[in-house]
Amino acid sequence: MKDYEHLLLENKAWAKEILETDPDFFNRLKDQQSPEYLWIGCSDSRVPPDRITQTQPGQIFIHRNIANMVVHTDLNLLSVLQYAVEVLKVKHIIVCGHYGCGGVKAAMGNANLGIINKWLRNIKDVYRFHQAEIDSIPNEKDRLNRLIELNVVEQVHNLAKTSIVQHAWKTRNAPHIHGWVYDLGDGLIKTLFELPANTQLDHHIYEYDFTDL
Ligand code: CO
Repeated sequence: MKDYEHLLLENKAWAKEILETDPDFFNRLKDQQSPEYLWIGCSDSRVPPDRITQTQPGQIFIHRNIANMVVHTDLNLLSVLQYAVEVLKVKHIIVCGHYGCGGVKAAMGNANLGIINKWLRNIKDVYRFHQAEIDSIPNEKDRLNRLIELNVVEQVHNLAKTSIVQHAWKTRNAPHIHGWVYDLGDGLIKTLFELPANTQLDHHIYEYDFTDL
């Protein structure tokens, strides 16, 4: 058997097991989804959002990229965000980073990595905003992990800077935005930071005027 064929076999076993315990499972889900959460996480294979939160199909809407970034020109992220916020009307958005993130580690170095340079550039900016704090940490691993935390906080702020989130805050007082970090060493999530709906933005220049509503 070819290695990838295991995936297909496991899929068959999974579907069979679900039907045995819940015969109506797929019928209930096939025509609609109403997840309460949008998860923005790292693509790292060791941080599978539904496994680490024990959420079931239908419960969590997921976007993943290298180092869980919210980049204001990323049409992929923005399309997911708009759909989750305006159509699915999620109540919470979770940005979840993880300690030991290779993307953040690469951004802290000076290697020329090709096209990924352009993505990591956004993390280098986060380092620059917090350089004094990060440089004061004596241990390299701790410096990396602190930048990972600060990067999550920055991405939470970036969500609040979108007109998509601000419009939803004004019209339905949601979603609440959460910044979390996952520890590969013990499998536990640490909560870092929270922006409840309608929190004052970190700078007024990012506030949009919705007086025409
Ligand atoms: Co990562």
